[in-house]
This record gives sequence, C-alpha cells and structure tokens, in this order.
Amino acid sequence: MSERAQFVTKMGVIAASVGSAVGLGNIWRFPYEAGMHGGGAFICIYLLCVFLLGIPVIIAEFVIGRATHKNANSAINLLAPGSKFRYVSYIGIISSVMILSFYSVVAGWIIEYLFQSIIGNLNGHSPEDYSNIFNSLVGSPWRSVLWTILFLGINFLILRKGIQKGIERISNLLMPILFLLLIIFCINSLLLPKAKEGLEFMFSPDFSQVSPSMIIGAMGQAFFSLSLGLTCLLTYASYFNDKTPLIKTATIIAILDTCVAILAGVIIFPAVFSFGAEPTAGPKLVFEILPSIFNQMPGGYLWSIALFTLLFFASITSTISMSEIFITFCTEEHNMSRKKATRLNTGIALVLGSLCALSFNVLSDIKVFDKTFFDLFDYVSSNILLPAGGFILAVFVGWVMNKNIVANQLTNNGTLNVRTMRPILFCIRYIAPLAIILIFLYVIGLFDSLAALLF
Ligand code: TRP
Repeated sequence: MSERAQFVTKMGVIAASVGSAVGLGNIWRFPYEAGMHGGGAFICIYLLCVFLLGIPVIIAEFVIGRATHKNANSAINLLAPGSKFRYVSYIGIISSVMILSFYSVVAGWIIEYLFQSIIGNLNGHSPEDYSNIFNSLVGSPWRSVLWTILFLGINFLILRKGIQKGIERISNLLMPILFLLLIIFCINSLLLPKAKEGLEFMFSPDFSQVSPSMIIGAMGQAFFSLSLGLTCLLTYASYFNDKTPLIKTATIIAILDTCVAILAGVIIFPAVFSFGAEPTAGPKLVFEILPSIFNQMPGGYLWSIALFTLLFFASITSTISMSEIFITFCTEEHNMSRKKATRLNTGIALVLGSLCALSFNVLSDIKVFDKTFFDLFDYVSSNILLPAGGFILAVFVGWVMNKNIVANQLTNNGTLNVRTMRPILFCIRYIAPLAIILIFLYVIGLFDSLAALLF
C-alpha cells in the first residue's frame, strides 16, 4: 500500500472519477438512447437506475477499492480468500476492451468532426446535408478506420509516456469549461422555434412505451455513463485516502454525470424537432444535429471547434480509465511490464475497433444476433456485462464482505456520522441485486412465459 500513490486532495479524487464518468456516454450515447426509446419514459427509468442501482454500486466499488488499496482481483482475494467473486475482474477486463474498441470509433468521429470544423467544411449546409456528411464519413472504410487508429494512438502515447496525470489535470481544467459551454448551447436550443416539443419529448413520459429493450437500455446506459461494473471506480478508489467520504463522493459523481447527460438532451432534442430530424436516428443522432446547431448560432465556426475539442478531452479521460483497468490487471496480477500491457491493450483495441469501424461499411452485412459488430459490442458490454459486474460487486459487499469493514469504510472508521448508511446498505444488499436480476429475467421474457403458463 505504501508504494501506491494516494490522491491527496479531495478535488483530485472527485475530478479523476468525474473525468472517467463524463464522456461520450453522456453527450453522444444518452441522447441517442433516449431518442430511440421514446424520450421521457426512458429518462424516468434512467434516473431511477442511477439513484437506486448506480449510486449503491459506485459505493460498493469504492468500499472494496479503498478497504484494500488493491486492484479488483487482489482486493477480493484479500477480503474473501479463495472466493470465486474475484472472477468479476475478468468481466471487467473483457468489457473494458470491448468498450474501448467501439468508443474509439466514436471518439474518432469526434476528431474528424473537429478537423472538418477547423477547415470550415461543417459550415453552411442544410440539415439533410449533415446526414449525408455523416453517412459519407462512416461509409468510407479507410477514413473511419484511420480516425479510430489515430485516437487509439493518442490514447496509447498518453499511457505509454505515463502522462495520464497531466492529461487528467488539463482535462480537469477543461471540464468546467465544457459544462459552461453546454449551458450556453442549452440556452441557444431553448430559444429554437420548436424547443417546447423537444422538452415535452424529454420530460413528459409516455409509459405506454415501456418495453424490455427500453428498461435494459436505461439500466445499461446508467452503468455505462457512471463507468460502473467493470471495476474502474474500484481501481480509482484504491488510491483514495482515509478521509474521502465515500457516500458523498459517489453522490456528487452521480449527480454531476446526470446533469451533463440531461444538459446534452436539452441541447439535442429541441434542435431535433426544430430541424425536422428524427429522434430515433440512433448513433448518428448527435453528429447530425450538432452541426445544424452551430450553423444557426452566431460564431458557429468557433463554437464547433471549442465543443469538439472539449469532447475530445472528455473522451480521452474516459478511455484512459478503461485502459488502466486492463493495464493494472496485467502488471499487478501477471507481472507484465507496463510497456507490454499498454501495447497489448492497444493492439486488441486496434483489431476490434477496426472491426467496429468497418461494421458501418464493408462489414455492415455481417451480423451476429442480428447486430453489427459495433452494435453487438455496445449491447453486450453495456447492457449485459456491466450490470452483471455490478450485480456481483453489490452482492459481494452486501453479503460476503465483513460487515464491520463495510461500516468502517462508509463512516471513515466511525469519524463520519452518515445517516444515509442504512438505506444505502439496503440498496446494496437487496434493491440493486434484485432489480438487476429482475430486469434480466424480464428481458429474456421469463415473465411473459410465466403469464402464459398461469393464464
Ligand atoms: N462513463 C464513460 C462515458 O460516459 C465511459 C467509461 C469510462 C466507462 N470508463 C468506463 C464505461 C468504465 C463503463 C465502464 O463516456
């Protein structure tokens, strides 16, 4: 423990975790998932997932990480020697590489859009043109693969040179600016002609739209956006010091992350309706709408450069956190050198990321379970592996770990008087594991079969 650095300041702890949490998940994935699943009802279920499952699972990860100051595998082995629960770290490794792969494709699009903004190509087109511009980017195999490689290359260099702390520091400076920028965009969107329709779409839920795919989508989005379930926050918490208040920190992260997602929605949906686009466009939604927004804003050229630059930084702090899981595991558990582990991580992501990039063009006909590689990686990791990891971690903290250790972690050895401890423990023990299992059963259609049997 002594040789492992600790975050000294409270700000450092929160900023690094927020840096991991805030990323394309909030600004790209949240609006498109909400748009595909009917808006308001999805957002309600999403919020329930963040507060009833998300916060308890963040706290579970924090408790394990800070109690041991170790990575997931050794941490669980230390707390419950020989326990099979430590295999959760393998779910983490597999899903971290899957996410890194498709995430890099989208981050590649961000770099291309930044480039196109700088050379002025994004200015002065009609909304339909922006749809064509996006289609021609993802339709070109070499362009999308090249941008993906470029992004992974930058990610590699940062990890390889060990400058992720520096990048995180820059990004901590930039995140408040991103927040401010989003607020400005938000005001701009609220002044658009059909802003009211956009807000109604987001905030007046139509619960007749609730479906298994919407519920699992909302749960997956909550886990994805909070960087949960693959022991990312567990590893970050292994660097926390004894004074970090876990419950409070987890709540702040969840609230900040959710605010960014909602802001993104309030930027995108009024524009969707005002520019006559479809909220159900899927992954391309944000890339079609943002340029139309810049176009209509005074000084749009500069706004677009600023936003894509900040989004790039938001993505890179998130991919650093995913890569760290893999690298820490290889170096601490398998005595691999950091150099080799970084190369391995990037190598796998290059292969899988290229497959994802190509699934929008030359490989678009190859489907597994009716999904392209990109969709499959996203679905399997976000909607299945992350909640499964979260389930295992919550059960471990709720039922297996020594109760005194858990209580000491939550109260910082009795120095904090935490009134929310009991409800939080209740959520970790009962609500989170049960809800995750019930949602899985609902999605595989168990309740329908039961109803068919009974009636
Ligand atoms: N939460 C990040 C985002 O919203 C993505 C991310 C980073 C992530 N680390 C993770 C997702 C770990 C799941 C697990 O963009």
